[in-house]
Amino acid sequence: MNPKIIHDPEAMQHWSLTERAAGRILGLVPTMGYLHRGHLSLMETLRPQVDRLVVSIFVNPIQFGAGEDLDRYPRDWDGDLAACRNAGVDVIFAPEPAAVYPAEFQTAVSVARLTAGLCGALRPGHFDGVTTVVAKLFNLTLPHRACFGEKDYQQLAVIRRMVADLAFPVEIVAAPIVREDDGLALSSRNVYLSAADRHAALGLSRGLFAARKRYAAGERRAVELAGTAHRTIVDHAGDACALEYLVVCDARSLEEIVTVDRETVIALAAKVGRTRLIDNIILAANPEATGKNP
Ligand code: PAJ
Repeated sequence: MNPKIIHDPEAMQHWSLTERAAGRILGLVPTMGYLHRGHLSLMETLRPQVDRLVVSIFVNPIQFGAGEDLDRYPRDWDGDLAACRNAGVDVIFAPEPAAVYPAEFQTAVSVARLTAGLCGALRPGHFDGVTTVVAKLFNLTLPHRACFGEKDYQQLAVIRRMVADLAFPVEIVAAPIVREDDGLALSSRNVYLSAADRHAALGLSRGLFAARKRYAAGERRAVELAGTAHRTIVDHAGDACALEYLVVCDARSLEEIVTVDRETVIALAAKVGRTRLIDNIILAANPEATGKNP
């Protein structure tokens, strides 16, 4: 069945209110389109958990900084429609920017500490743009559950914080990173990569996997794990991967840690050619790391 396509925000909210009144459980997967297997995995995760699945496709202008890729962000409406049809999506919500942000729009939702580091430090205003649009998407689609990818790890943490702080009645469901067979994390921005960039970009996941291997072998010092990742990236890509950050952080607070003695994320961002890529791996909490447990 073809998904129903709704452009008008009011019509979207009306549809959601009607479905809710009929007792249906609603799910939302927010996206910026150019859908790939990463997005599809979010839909697959949520589909069996809800009665009605909504996918939003909206390239949100306020989360792009000056000089970022808003104007050339890839779009493929026909491909997205086919992907949503195959995934059993009930509604595609695809509003126009002017309908989401009319001239008089002047409100922002802002999460403080969690957005201070990592991508937040390098992309001022980015996360305010994300939380503002996601808050509005929640109010328009009224989901019981919404699914986000761990690919954008800081985004997921920031949305969880917003939902808790503002008491949105939405359950946030996280889905793991989907990768190409060779390890590269899927991203809409991968289409920007030349063949040489694509090869260099592989160094990023290899670096993270190398750090995870050292962790599995018992290394708990953050500086050593970061060093392993860094060296692996440089060995693979030379200076073709320009790292913006590579940090070992507490998986909840996103504060940098010295020793991996709790659930941890190793997160990085890099410019490969003109393309900015992010990736991460999660190191599960390991009771042995504290030295207190057998
Ligand atoms: P977008 O980049 O289109 O991503 C939409 C969702 O897909 C996000 O939750 C992201 O984490 C997830 N995703 C992307 N690549 C993935 C991969 N390889 N594996 C698993 N999940 C992946 O993120 C945004 O859009 C926007 O910021 C948005 C939340 C829609 C707000 O505008």
